[in-house]
Amino acid sequence: MSQREPRRPRYVDHDGFLMPMGFPVEGFDSGLGYRAAPGDIFVATYPKCGTTWMQYILWLLVNDARPLGPGEALTELFPHLEEVGAEAVRALPEPRLIKTHLPSSMVPWSPDAKYVWVARNPFDCAVSFFHHTRGFVRHYDFADGTFADFFECFIAGKVDFGDYFDHLLSWYARKDEPNVRFVTYEAMHQDARRAVVEVAKFVGGRAAATARDDACVQRILAETSFDSMRRDQRRWSSERPPGMPEFVRKGGVGDWKSCFSPEQAARLIEAFERRTAGTGAATLWPEILADVRRYARSADSARGPYDRRT
Ligand code: A3P
Repeated sequence: MSQREPRRPRYVDHDGFLMPMGFPVEGFDSGLGYRAAPGDIFVATYPKCGTTWMQYILWLLVNDARPLGPGEALTELFPHLEEVGAEAVRALPEPRLIKTHLPSSMVPWSPDAKYVWVARNPFDCAVSFFHHTRGFVRHYDFADGTFADFFECFIAGKVDFGDYFDHLLSWYARKDEPNVRFVTYEAMHQDARRAVVEVAKFVGGRAAATARDDACVQRILAETSFDSMRRDQRRWSSERPPGMPEFVRKGGVGDWKSCFSPEQAARLIEAFERRTAGTGAATLWPEILADVRRYARSADSARGPYDRRT
């Protein structure tokens, strides 16, 4: 039986930086030239690490916990810098809410802007990114791609917005600067209230005032719960073909088990250890890493993923 050729998602290669097909390269170039202004609030993430969740929390915090109304889309109110470009961002009402997937070395920087950086463990990120890449068929042409196909791209850093570890390390190096707030997806998942209150304090101003009102915090937690964000997904994402995974898909921690083989787990652990060696990032996610290590070393290494239900 002939072996199947590995599939690769299709990307636009813009001077070595990969982007989804249809992503406007002019927006990217213009976005890099945006001059960050005092009061700007950035959400900085590697793709699939909880960007939209944190965006909606921040949106609610600076809007007195008022949920998005009918027809309002977060993608317009809290746009992606590299997609819409500098002019569109400059025209936003203040405080400007700006999403970016850029590493900290490339992001427009101002000591008077604030940067909320959300990181997620690479195992769950890879699985989420795989489903995302499958689902946005017109952006990646990867509907029939497998996790094994995607994993090779992910571990080589050949996916849109670059290498996971480059992003992680670039932001980790800046995480203690006074205008940077670092939070993990896993910490948000464990204690969403704490994440909301702490990010509000960090942002200050209207956000801090909103978080002083417990009824507002309750409303924000209800609005940004997984079940609530799962409804009416046009608020965060364009439509996908029937049968494809939703944008707000499964949530939670540990979905890596649905896709990783022990061999893939061992390879990504090795990459994590090698790339984070000598940095504080090596100590992130100790429990998840221990779990992945156990799985990677399991004697029954011929077995496939824990389950294949997704
Ligand atoms: P999964 O694919 O693992 O479900 P991003 O916004 O950076 O693209 O991240 C998307 C990931 O965040 C998806 O992960 C999505 O389900 C998850 N997510 C979105 N909103 C969430 C929420 N309110 N609570 C928990 N996870 C959420």
